[in-house]
Amino acid sequence: MNLFRTKPIDQDAYCDTGLRRCLGALDLTLLGIGAIIGAGIFVLTGVAAATKAGPAIVLSYVVAGLACTFAALAYAELASTIGGCGSAYGYSYAGFGELVAWLIGWDLILEYGVATPTVAIGWSGYVNNALAAMGIHLPQALVSAPGAGGVVNLPAMGIIAFLSVLLAIGVHMSARFNAAMVLVKLTAIVVFVGVAAFNVDPAHWHPFMPFGFQGVMAGAALIFFAYIGFDAVSTAAEEAFRPQRDLPIGILASLAVCTVIYVLVSLLLTGVAPYASLNVPSPVSEALLNLGHRGASALVAAGAIAGLTTVMLVLYYGLTRVFLAMSRDGLLPPVFSALHPVRKTPVRIILVSGVFMAAVAGFLPIGTVAELVNIGTLAAFVLVCGGVIYLRRVRPELPRPFRTPLSPLIPVLGVLFCAYLMVSLPWVTWLRFFLWMAVGLVVYFVYSRHHSRLAASG
Ligand code: ALA
Repeated sequence: MNLFRTKPIDQDAYCDTGLRRCLGALDLTLLGIGAIIGAGIFVLTGVAAATKAGPAIVLSYVVAGLACTFAALAYAELASTIGGCGSAYGYSYAGFGELVAWLIGWDLILEYGVATPTVAIGWSGYVNNALAAMGIHLPQALVSAPGAGGVVNLPAMGIIAFLSVLLAIGVHMSARFNAAMVLVKLTAIVVFVGVAAFNVDPAHWHPFMPFGFQGVMAGAALIFFAYIGFDAVSTAAEEAFRPQRDLPIGILASLAVCTVIYVLVSLLLTGVAPYASLNVPSPVSEALLNLGHRGASALVAAGAIAGLTTVMLVLYYGLTRVFLAMSRDGLLPPVFSALHPVRKTPVRIILVSGVFMAAVAGFLPIGTVAELVNIGTLAAFVLVCGGVIYLRRVRPELPRPFRTPLSPLIPVLGVLFCAYLMVSLPWVTWLRFFLWMAVGLVVYFVYSRHHSRLAASG
């Protein structure tokens, strides 16, 4: 039995599959920013500064940003060389063979499928706070999961239902909605930077590294979550006008913009408030509130709500596209891959994954799952960086419209940085990750292997 059968790299055959091409380089960059800036900067920065890195959280952002830059360059090369909407799953199928591809696809389902409900729960918290500030109090039973003192988290389920309708209507519509929301969240960040810059008290930066170097790395492993999303741009290959040119632009430009924003915001946040006070659900808007800027604080809260919405939208989108690729390949039941005849969207997949994620968001209190999402994503990044090195060696002749500079140095650094961040995660996260992957192996050997289209074609 051949577990390492690879899919031929035939960009024409695998790239044109009926999805509507409607995204240009700017759309893809906005898609990236839409997916990146969200719960990470608006929520996790506070926890990570207070409990892991202190004011040195800014260094954590630099470290995680470096790891992501190396990975993004590798993504850009593979996206331009191999294409296909399956992202790292598709690249692995061509480079490493079916088993590895399955594992990475299963891993991406974990990343996107758990990240979306996690952010939905954060979104629900922000919206409830905003409603409470306006004097509207929803019953506790309807806004939290059973383990968190309620019965069901209805707002979290509601936002996922809304996004599934948007995605089913079509990518063009979703991209417009995304662009509008991205504008709102970028405005909120400009407001924060503008206000905070005039209120910094350098005394807050001492001690700078209260938890030492280890704290900086643990902080980086946690706030790595803030960068997740640029990889989702690569799942849009089949809907991009010129994927080979525009995907690398979208991936790298969105990451660059977000890295600058993160370094600036985290530096200012720890400059306007004692780091130990930041372990709250909405640290960025609260910091402004504590400085007496009510209006700016409300604006930042609105920006955070918009930010969390686009993150969910793009990650949900990414999930459906990876699922679609796997279903078309027969590794997941092909019945899911049918497109809506008019809308040209994979409605069945949108529905099934929406129901699953709404259930998770409505009934599970999700505490440390951000770390689970991180480990899954880091594993994908390691593989993508490894894929660049491997493919350059075995398929040097392939046309590479975008080439990672200084290869193999950059991809090797990518593997090392991402692996180090993985090692910095708690052991319980590793355990959960292994469990998920073990279930994936069982599914593969019981179902996928026997239904693989590639196997059937001999
Ligand atoms: N990067 C995304 C966020 O921070 C997942 O919410």
